[in-house]
Amino acid sequence: MISKRNYKVIEIETSYSKAKILKGISLINEAFPEEEFSLEFSGDKIKAYVNTLDLQRFSKQISEIEKKLNVKPDNPFREVLEKIESIGSYGIKSGKRYFVDYNKERKIKDRKQKIMDRGMYFYAVDNNFSKKNNNLPIELLDQIVSGDSEVWLKQLPDNCVDLIFTSPPYNFGLDYGEHKDGIDWNQYFDKLFKIFNECIRITKYGGRIVINVQPLYSDFIPIHHIISNFFMKNKMIWRNEILWEKNNYNAKYTAWGSWKSPSNPYLKYTWEYIEVYSKGDLKHPGESSNIDILDSEFKEWVNAKWNIAPERSMKEYNHPAMFPEKLAERVIKLFSFQKDIVVDPFNGSGTTTKVAKKLNRHFIGVDLSPKYVDLALERLKNL
Ligand SMILES: C[S@@+](CC[C@H](N)C(=O)[O-])C[C@H]1O[C@@H](n2cnc3c(N)ncnc32)[C@H](O)[C@@H]1O
Repeated sequence: MISKRNYKVIEIETSYSKAKILKGISLINEAFPEEEFSLEFSGDKIKAYVNTLDLQRFSKQISEIEKKLNVKPDNPFREVLEKIESIGSYGIKSGKRYFVDYNKERKIKDRKQKIMDRGMYFYAVDNNFSKKNNNLPIELLDQIVSGDSEVWLKQLPDNCVDLIFTSPPYNFGLDYGEHKDGIDWNQYFDKLFKIFNECIRITKYGGRIVINVQPLYSDFIPIHHIISNFFMKNKMIWRNEILWEKNNYNAKYTAWGSWKSPSNPYLKYTWEYIEVYSKGDLKHPGESSNIDILDSEFKEWVNAKWNIAPERSMKEYNHPAMFPEKLAERVIKLFSFQKDIVVDPFNGSGTTTKVAKKLNRHFIGVDLSPKYVDLALERLKNL
């Protein structure tokens, strides 16, 4: 007799034909090893004991039963399948779901106590951020302006915006017009950090700063690490790192490395990073009526690897480094509520401001270049 003490047990009440249920159960039990999965019928209940299960196989088995016993699709076996499908925690191995002991080797004894003893985000707990959030004057809301963000953002009060989403110039040497790209690294980071200091100041307590950045692989400059180090030194919580998989296989890398030799291999990268920081608190309060992320989106997007194609219309817009709207949509819906204030201090062609407006958020976009401001304003039309 197999002990099913730890098994997940699913119960379905049914008034379905007893004869068909018993026949169906017997066919299913014949098809699966009892130690993995079995069904029982008593009173008016079907009980499923689930340890390990190939759901596709179970579904096929049910289809066969439906044919053999002339049973319609609204039968209790399908109900059992649906209930098992809705169990959120399981492991996966060789196409089967493992519902019992799947994370045994990863279980830590007294986990909560250990977290309390060692502390979370130790580098940011002694911050001096004020918890008092301030209103942003209405006349500053919902605009796209031309200016240097280091200067322009100074007019905003402390703790007044919910989300900053941006992608700074990466110092590749691209042609942005007003902004000089490809300068000395110390000068580059000096300027960037002055703008980021303003970003930290204007972010609300509990607000988020989200930075899309591509390390300069060819120069061995890990910009994403240097930026994270800066934010952590300034007491921001490093809350997430999302890998934006662009599947961008265009670069001809071997030109810089050794071919087929360990002397100096050059590796290929097809992705960028999205670094997410929280100010003071991981929680950002908001009204539940202002949540607009769908169940399916949430489920997919909390997996921190996002497959999104790069922006294809940069030539059309005449901007050399746009990110795609899909990326902005995910960041904005996952990290902010409707009616929140979203700011992009390197707004470029205005992808952030366009998506923020479309998603019913307030927005502010700043860019050094007046021609990009015009472009960003143009993109707001017809929304
Ligand atoms: C990587 S692009 C941003 C592109 C944007 N995410 C999009 O989808 O179009 C960086 C932008 O920062 C702007 N920029 C550079 N230095 C700036 C500064 N000090 N203040 C404001 N904008 C600046 C550049 O003109 C450029 O358009």
